[in-house]
Amino acid sequence: MTSRLKKITSLWITTVLLLFVISIILGITMRFNQAEVIRLSPITFYTDMTVHGLTMIGIWFVAGMAAVNFIMERYVKTSKFVNILALVLTVVGVLMFWASTFIGKFHAGWTFLYPLPFKVMWSAWATPLFLYSLAVLAVGWLIWCISLIAAMLKKYSITQVFAWQYFKKGPKEETPPFILISMITLVGIVTCLITAIVLVVLLFAEYYSKGTFVNDALLMKNLTYFFGHAIANEMLYLGLAVIYEMFAEISGRPKWKTTWYVSLAWNCTLFFILTAFFHHLYMDFVQPEGLQILGQLASYLASLPAAGVTVFSIVVAVYRTKINWTLANLLFFIGVMGWVVGGLGAVIDATISNNFVLHNTLWVPAHFHTYNAMGNVLFSLGFFYWFSVNFSNSRHSEKLSALKLFLLIVGGIGFLAAFYIGGADSIPRRYSNYPAEFVHAKTLALIGGVFASIYLIGILIFFVNITRRCVKILFSQSA
Ligand code: HEM
Repeated sequence: MTSRLKKITSLWITTVLLLFVISIILGITMRFNQAEVIRLSPITFYTDMTVHGLTMIGIWFVAGMAAVNFIMERYVKTSKFVNILALVLTVVGVLMFWASTFIGKFHAGWTFLYPLPFKVMWSAWATPLFLYSLAVLAVGWLIWCISLIAAMLKKYSITQVFAWQYFKKGPKEETPPFILISMITLVGIVTCLITAIVLVVLLFAEYYSKGTFVNDALLMKNLTYFFGHAIANEMLYLGLAVIYEMFAEISGRPKWKTTWYVSLAWNCTLFFILTAFFHHLYMDFVQPEGLQILGQLASYLASLPAAGVTVFSIVVAVYRTKINWTLANLLFFIGVMGWVVGGLGAVIDATISNNFVLHNTLWVPAHFHTYNAMGNVLFSLGFFYWFSVNFSNSRHSEKLSALKLFLLIVGGIGFLAAFYIGGADSIPRRYSNYPAEFVHAKTLALIGGVFASIYLIGILIFFVNITRRCVKILFSQSA
């Protein structure tokens, strides 16, 4: 492992954690505003919501990519130049996006659903700047993904990289699960990033045509959710690729191997994750009915096989065996549980008859915060912790481990429970202030905000410890 790659990875980790702390503070501010403990103008609330949502998606995507890039170097040679380019374009893209929101007051939500970007209730320049920021991010990430795919294809054939040889008896070559899952995920990400670029081009076409070109709203919604749903899910799979590689190694167990059912499950996931987004359009009654049914079926088929084999692999790894538990594999283990619980919440919502009740209620942030704040974040934190301890040569103590986990788990569960109960009580999402008819909404927002603050304290301890070690790696001569 080259010292340059370790330094770039340290920079990614520090950047992600810093942006994470800021984004959590925005999230807590939103909850306290909904509780009417503080008072934000609706414009500030929706600006914060837009910044929070898109920054969170962006950072946990790049966190997974940085970890995958680091581990991939064990198998193939990756480009350090492209890794740094992606980092620079991410920072530039985020700064442009923050300027459009914090200064320009653009606040169309992280999904910027058409035609909202053109209903200008902010500085006129903020819409094009926001779109340019998306273009910078999408192009930087696309180059990064293609470069990693190319690196894998230099060593593995198409059959090997997708592990198709396992469908025949007695496969001759091995495909490490890490390579299989990374490939499946990166292909999905490339597809959704290209869609994001098409979306931005169509939005620009309308913007610069001054009314002579108008987009089709249903097409734009399909493109938006194809991109948004796919990226939000694929970034979890980046974390899973890391777990398939690291869980056994950190636990002192034999390395996990690809089998026919692991290969089948992940190959299914590639297709179904890209078609599950139709569940976002159940309430768009002009959408052809067949696509709605496909949306429900794909929602089940995208989540169940991958979750099934991952949970099976983890259970087999830990059941009645002596495990070398450290903070890293504990975070992976708890993260997988969070991912499964959030996934169940998602499947419940993706069932058409339930969606009539749960659509756009707090059930939606409930489930996606579960697999993010208590799933994907823990996957990456596990990697960050392992990386920083292993390469900083610093003496570390596990003294605060129990406290950190306690704060994350208690804070996380309380924060999420307030969302789930709100969803079950039909409280709508994305309200800056709740009307009096929603009698429990304010109290739940207060409870959510308090527990989220407990979660934040846990994250702050991680932030201080991990960044201190990463800064050491960054400035060391022999990292
Ligand atoms: C403790 C940490 C967090 C807090 C306090 C928090 C809080 C919030 C709140 C209050 C909302 C608005 C909910 C509504 O009324 O619709 C929200 C939305 C959102 N959050 Fe979080 N969140 C946290 C962590 C995360 C994480 C880890 C992610 C990772 C992806 C994330 C992604 C999002 C997204 C995508 C939205 C939707 C924004 C939109 O509707 O445009 N959040 N969050």
